[in-house]
Amino acid sequence: MAILKVARMGHPILREVAKEVPRDEIATPGFQTFVDDMIETMREYDGAGLAAPQVHVSKRVVVMEIASNPRYPDAPSLPLSVLINPRITPLTERRVQIVEGCLSVPDIRGVVPRCAEIEFEALDRNGEPVRQRFEDFSAAVVQHECDHLDGILYLDRVVDTRSLSFLREFERYHVVPRVAD
Ligand code: NI
Repeated sequence: MAILKVARMGHPILREVAKEVPRDEIATPGFQTFVDDMIETMREYDGAGLAAPQVHVSKRVVVMEIASNPRYPDAPSLPLSVLINPRITPLTERRVQIVEGCLSVPDIRGVVPRCAEIEFEALDRNGEPVRQRFEDFSAAVVQHECDHLDGILYLDRVVDTRSLSFLREFERYHVVPRVAD
């Protein structure tokens, strides 16, 4: 396994629409190793999620995991998930305001309104279809990561740019509710 290099904002690959993974590619050793490397990279940098374009691979693959993440101390836990070719369906008009960060936009936080309840369909790393419903913070993580597959960064979705803060200043001065309508 390997820790992969993370693309930072400004790298063109972060603005591409990533390609679907052919189903027969999923079982190949090369693809399985890539998934393992994505998981290791996400954990190394304490990310709540990581999308393949963030490690310079323009494919529709996302990994997510929230387990006592020091970058998101108040976040609920989310078991390790591998989503291949995910599709999101919004289930409500309700929006939650989520403080987000991104490994490709280091050391910055900003508030993004996200759909409060979504359902996604995807293939897992065994090529099996999965369908799951998420709310609030977990739903926001899915939306953030899937945005990467369409070349969208969370900064594109920040409505009030006054919410932007460097991480150090954020931790020092901001007490923003994690979820606030
Ligand atoms: Ni990100």
